[in-house]
Amino acid sequence: MAGLPARGKSTIAARIKESFLASGIPTEIFNNGDLRRQLVDRNTANSDFYDPNNTQGSALREQIAVTNIKNAAQFIEQGGEVAILDATNVSRKRRELILSMLTDHPVLFIETVNNDPEILEANINRKAGLPEFAHFEHQEAMASFKERIRYYEHIADPFQNEANYIQVDSLHNKIIKFWLTDHLPHFEQLRDLLVTDYVKNLYLVRHGQTTDNLVERIGGDALLTEKGQSQALLLSDTFSSVPLPYIFCSQKQRTWQTAEPICSNQSHGCTLIPLEEFNEIDAGICEEMTYEEIKNQMPHVYYERLMDKYNYVYPQGEGYVSMRTRIDRGIKKALFLSGNADHIVIVGHRAVNRMILAHFLYRRIEDVPYIYVPQNQYYHIISMQQKKLFELKKIN
Ligand code: F6P
Repeated sequence: MAGLPARGKSTIAARIKESFLASGIPTEIFNNGDLRRQLVDRNTANSDFYDPNNTQGSALREQIAVTNIKNAAQFIEQGGEVAILDATNVSRKRRELILSMLTDHPVLFIETVNNDPEILEANINRKAGLPEFAHFEHQEAMASFKERIRYYEHIADPFQNEANYIQVDSLHNKIIKFWLTDHLPHFEQLRDLLVTDYVKNLYLVRHGQTTDNLVERIGGDALLTEKGQSQALLLSDTFSSVPLPYIFCSQKQRTWQTAEPICSNQSHGCTLIPLEEFNEIDAGICEEMTYEEIKNQMPHVYYERLMDKYNYVYPQGEGYVSMRTRIDRGIKKALFLSGNADHIVIVGHRAVNRMILAHFLYRRIEDVPYIYVPQNQYYHIISMQQKKLFELKKIN
């Protein structure tokens, strides 16, 4: 692996390992950070440790890298097929060291890039909460991590035909560049894996019943009814034995109110993250009107939408068509932020959940605005190279 810190290297490394193991390919990860935490007693989360002028720190990091390269070579010699060196490897010097020590195996560099400032900030925020930063205030931890990134930026050299190379946009699962100089075993499986969504278990829930739902009033920011609150409690029972490190919802109260009991019923830490991208379709001039009122007061809106619901954009608002970019972004953001979590929940809205379903499941666009999204059931989605699953399940 190669790339600056917080660009999704370890997540991709873990995906490769899981998928290869599932296909019977002996694979192991050699992570320099893990080795550093095992070998070095003193705390190395401080940014000074990464300062290129800190000769002691640099020497120690070099020694850790060499140990891991040797461990990787040993793993291959003893019957392993794929050894993943999970570290920044941003300098040419470091990459040359790897190539000089692994001469009898083809080496592929996978560089992960992601320069989306918002996602980067959110990812740094998440990393600042890791145990290695426990002795810092949160803001201090973030500042220290950013300083560490700057040190790595300082020593980073772009790739120049050094070996087999893939550059991947880790947010969009997109291959930006690649060249191969060797025949690489398992390359087809690997390439496909890098561009495939990797969703182990996504539970897509719609918020519980609201006071607006009772009268079919659209948009707004209504609260849950009593029935809605009991739906949320049922959901919290349903997911009590499913470890959920992250739950994503929208910025509307109804999704937060539905998600919060699920999160607080988790026995291990659960973080609830509201994302603007998952807000319900903005009905513009029709916000907070009932469908009946729209039909009576603005029949042109009502009938034009009926004729082409997917492409119709509410005046001063949105349509399914214009929600697509932000929903896709919300999905990528949620998946990126949840790293390699086995289970995640998204609590969304009717139109939002239709668009999320359509992201994973092919539907003709005219059918998307009619996908069935009930309030007393949820979708369990698995979307990986080896397995695709869509299951509509009842809340217990
Ligand atoms: O009625 C609930 C709701 O989520 C509204 O806020 C939203 O405008 C609507 O559903 C979306 O569904 P449709 O596109 O079928 O009108």
